[in-house]
Amino acid sequence: MCGIVGIVGREPVAGRLVDALKRLEYRGYDSAGVATIDHGKLDRRRAEGKLFNLEKVLDQNPLSGKIGIAHTRWATHGAPTESNAHPHFVGNVAIVHNGIIENFAELKEELIAGGAVFSSQTDTEVVAQLVAREIASGKPKRDAVQSVLKRLTGAYALALIFADEPDTIMAARSGPPLAVGYGKGEMYMGSDAIALSPFTNEISYLHDGDWAILTAGKVEIMDFDGNPVERPKQISAATAYVVDKGNHRHFMEKEIYEQPEVISHALGHYVDFGSTKVRDLPGSIDFAAIDRLAISACGTAYLAGLVSKYWFERLARLPVEIDVASEFRYREMPLSKNGAALFISQSGETADTLASLRYCKQEGLKIGAVVNVKESTIARESDAVFPILAGPEIGVASTKAFTCQLTALAALAIGAARQRGTMSEADEIAAVKHLIEMPRIMSAVLNSIQPQVETLARELSKCKDVLYLGRGTSYPLAMEGALKLKEISYIHAEGYAAGELKHGPIALIDEEMPVIVIAPHDRFFEKTVSNMQEVAARGGRIVFITDAKGAAASTLETMATIVLPEVDEIISPMIYSLPVQLIAYHTAVIMGTDVDQPRNLAKSVTVE
Ligand code: AGP
Repeated sequence: MCGIVGIVGREPVAGRLVDALKRLEYRGYDSAGVATIDHGKLDRRRAEGKLFNLEKVLDQNPLSGKIGIAHTRWATHGAPTESNAHPHFVGNVAIVHNGIIENFAELKEELIAGGAVFSSQTDTEVVAQLVAREIASGKPKRDAVQSVLKRLTGAYALALIFADEPDTIMAARSGPPLAVGYGKGEMYMGSDAIALSPFTNEISYLHDGDWAILTAGKVEIMDFDGNPVERPKQISAATAYVVDKGNHRHFMEKEIYEQPEVISHALGHYVDFGSTKVRDLPGSIDFAAIDRLAISACGTAYLAGLVSKYWFERLARLPVEIDVASEFRYREMPLSKNGAALFISQSGETADTLASLRYCKQEGLKIGAVVNVKESTIARESDAVFPILAGPEIGVASTKAFTCQLTALAALAIGAARQRGTMSEADEIAAVKHLIEMPRIMSAVLNSIQPQVETLARELSKCKDVLYLGRGTSYPLAMEGALKLKEISYIHAEGYAAGELKHGPIALIDEEMPVIVIAPHDRFFEKTVSNMQEVAARGGRIVFITDAKGAAASTLETMATIVLPEVDEIISPMIYSLPVQLIAYHTAVIMGTDVDQPRNLAKSVTVE
C-alpha cells in the first residue's frame, strides 16, 4: 500500500524524506518520489521501482529546500510509471496521496469541462487540480483545501505543499492512517509511526475526518468543517524496521482496521474506476473456455473460496467443485480436461494447498493462485497469479487477507460472468459500483460498532459454546465467525447453515449457548428469521447481525442486535466480516489469550 511523509524543517529535507520512505517499504510499492520548495519554487525527483532508483536520481540531481513531501506509490489508477508517481504538481500545488478518491471520475470531468489539463491518469491529480482551482478563484489556501476535502468521497490520506507558502504542509485523513510528529522547531507527518521514527517518537494520530495545518513549530488539527479537535500526543515505541502495530494493542486489531485501506488497493488492481468494470487481467484464466472450476484452500482461505462458489455459480453459471485441501489432495477426484483450478492462500506456502495444486497441475488443468505473497511457492507454480494486496498480515488469525481474498474473487467471478456472457454490462457496472463503495462503508462500520461489540464480548467470554448461523454467502461467513472465535479465544464454536438447524444442532439450544445469526435483509431473510424463532422458542439467546430493515422486521428479543448499513449481496460477505472479526477479537482480549499468536497455531502451515 502507498506511504506518505512530509517535513516542515529547519535543515534540508530531501535525504530525510527518503529515509522515512525506507521505513514504509514493508507496505509494498512500485514507484516513489519526493518534492521540496526552495527559493519559492517547487521541484521534484521521481523514479519507478525501488527507492534506490530514486536515490540514484537524487545523487545525480540533488534537491534542496527545508520543506517537502514524499511518497511510495502502490499503483491503483494508472501504471507504475514515473509520470504517474507522486508527488503531483498543479501550478503552485504539490500533493501526495494514499488510498482511493471514489468520485474522481466525475470531478475530473467537471475540471476538464472547466479547461483543466491533466498530466497523469491518477485520481490524486484531481485533488490538486481542485485545490489549485479554488486558490485561483481567490480563496485563501486553508479555505480552498477545506472546501475540496468536503467534496471527496473514498478512503484517503493526503498531504499538500504550496510554492508560495514554503512553511506550511496541509494533510488530511479519511480512512488510511496518518500521524503528525513533533520535533524541535520542525513538524512531521506520515502514514504511520515507523515513518516518523527517525525524527521523533512524539506523535499524534489523526482520526478519520481530521485535517491538519503544520508549520515549523506547531500544528492545527481540525475536522472537515474547520472546528478545532484535540488529538493527544503519545510516545511511539516504533522502531525503524519492525512492522508496527500503530496505535493498536495487537496486530490483529490493526489489520482489522486496515481493511478499508487495503481493500482500496485490491480494488485498484481488479477494477477500472473509469469504466466501472472489472479489468481484463493479462494471463488470466479464460473462463469462457472452461466447463468446471475446482477450488481448494485451507481455513479462512477455504471459506473465502466457499463464498466465491456462490458467485461463480450464480453470476457466471460455472459449476464449482470445492474442498478443503487436506481432503482434496487425496480424493483423486475426476477432473474435467476443460477445467481450471483456483488455489487461495494468504501465505502461498500452505502444504495441503500446494499438494492439491500439484495434483491439478498433473491432471492438466490451468492453475490460478489467489495469494497475498506474490513470490510464494503457490504463486510460482501457478499459471495465473491473482494478488490480494493486503500487505503483510502478522496476526495468525486472518482478517484483512480474508476480505481482500473475497474482493479479488468477486472481481474474478464478475469477470468470468462477462467472459461467459451471463452478466449484462449494466449489471457488471452496478456490481462494480458496490465493490468501489466498500472502503467507505467499511470505515463507517469500523467507526461505529466497536462499543457494542465490546459489551457483547464480555457476555460471550463467559460462554463455553457458541453457534453461528447463516444462509447463502452468510453460511461460509458463519463458519468463518466460528473459526475466528475458536482460534483466538479458545471458546468452542460452530458455523452452520441456518436451514440445517432442525436437522440436529437444535438439540444444543439452551440459555447457555449464544446463537449468532448473520442475516442481512436479503432474499433468505424471512427463512432465517424463522430459524431464529425456533431458537428463541427453546430459550436460546440470539445475537442478531443484520441491517436496519432486518432489525425493524424482527420483534425477537436478542442479547444484541448489531445493525450494519444496507448493502448489496455482492459485498455483504465483506461488510459482515467486520462484526464477526471484532466479536472474536474483543472476546479474546477479555479472555486474556495471546491474540496475535494463539496457542498451537502458526501463521502458515507449511507441513501436512
Ligand atoms: C485463519 O484465521 C487461520 N489462521 C488459518 O485457517 C489460515 O487461514 C489457513 O492456515 C490457511 O493459510 P493460508 O491462507 O496462508 O494458506
